[in-house]
Amino acid sequence: MWLRQAFVVDPSQNLAVERDIVLKDGVIIEIAQNLQPEDVRAVLGLSNSEQIPQVNAAGKYLFPGLVDAHVHLREPGQEDKEDIRSGSRAAVRGGFTSILAMANTKPVIDQRALVEFVRIQGQRAGFAKVYPVAAVTKGFKGTELVEMMDLFEGGAVAFSDDGQGIQNSEIMRLALEYAKLTACPIIAHCEDNNLAGQGVMRRGEASARLGLRGIPASAESVMVARDVLLAGETEGKLHIAHVSTKESVQIIKKAKKLGIDVTAEVNPHHLLFTDEDISLTATAYKVNPPLPTRADQEALIEGLLDGTIDMLATDHAPHTWEDKAKPFAEVPFGINALETALAAVWQGLVAKGKLSIQKLVELWSLKPAQRFGLPAGMLKIGAPADMVLFDPDYKEEISAANLESKSLNTPFLGKEMQGFPVMVWVDGKLLLENRQIIDVKN
Ligand code: DOR
Repeated sequence: MWLRQAFVVDPSQNLAVERDIVLKDGVIIEIAQNLQPEDVRAVLGLSNSEQIPQVNAAGKYLFPGLVDAHVHLREPGQEDKEDIRSGSRAAVRGGFTSILAMANTKPVIDQRALVEFVRIQGQRAGFAKVYPVAAVTKGFKGTELVEMMDLFEGGAVAFSDDGQGIQNSEIMRLALEYAKLTACPIIAHCEDNNLAGQGVMRRGEASARLGLRGIPASAESVMVARDVLLAGETEGKLHIAHVSTKESVQIIKKAKKLGIDVTAEVNPHHLLFTDEDISLTATAYKVNPPLPTRADQEALIEGLLDGTIDMLATDHAPHTWEDKAKPFAEVPFGINALETALAAVWQGLVAKGKLSIQKLVELWSLKPAQRFGLPAGMLKIGAPADMVLFDPDYKEEISAANLESKSLNTPFLGKEMQGFPVMVWVDGKLLLENRQIIDVKN
């Protein structure tokens, strides 16, 4: 396949320039400027009479498939919200070709057979590549570590009790220590349960005005401080999920200066919405950690630009309509994000000149691939052809009819957004064309 005149953005080779790309057997075999049919025939080994399948990509960006380090796929156990197939289809539609599936399913992913189940279900679906994250503690109880080596051998790429914080500091210390044997990071959901209490949004003026119980910023930041200290002491690998406070950014910055092996992610909703956007009926905005204040948001964007925060991640957290159709205080936390996240960041940051396209791709592809050791994040010759053709002008209304996800809990429902993937390939296989998933036979 010959992809012509794409504007190729690949931070792994410092590339942001017009190029032609040739694919064969699922890998990239040529990247060059202005190829001619005879060049392409030669690299593909085609005779003069054979047609060359080609795509005119002029005016569009081509970048490595995005890698999402934080996705909830709900299978096993809550398939009414999402399953591995629907979630990995939604991923492709959103431009993600590799995703990390969190372990807070029912049952939680704390045994090797469950890790293997998630991995195999992902392969069977055949859309985005699904990498299982295993639990840190058995049953998410926070008291006893899982058999890390066994789960790693089953295919886990990281360990996390995401969805809840590990309250026992000694368990967290042991987790960081033992995970070194696998070289996998511990993904920390930093939340002190006593400080968070029964809060449902960030504590501050907005929560007081709405009469909703607040979660103080310290509920996150004290755990970030604890965890970087433990990572320093154990020399373990720590990844902080969904950073949402300015204090957390400061602590991570300091930890990096001290040489602690810590990375961090931020979710688009924390960069684009604040606690001021919340109203009593807007349950799609209820998320954990809660939407930040304006000052926190500024610090998050600054942290993203100065390298304190290493990557973007969606924290795609699907919930059914019934789940979210209750009073704000009672609904579960979580935002459905895979199919809207890229357009949201495109419109909210890139199109406004706050973030370059090169940086966007680095933060959402190369960096997570590197941190979790995945074969992704670059368009080099010989690399798997996981690619996104992105049309910055494409507009679409977010609707139940369009979404591949089973759930609709997005603040963008009914809104028109701009900037979407129009073609997506995984291992050279075209899985999205004209915004439609191409069904694969299994
Ligand atoms: O908002 C959230 N939803 N935050 C989490 O940490 C968990 C997630 C979920 O699983 O729904």
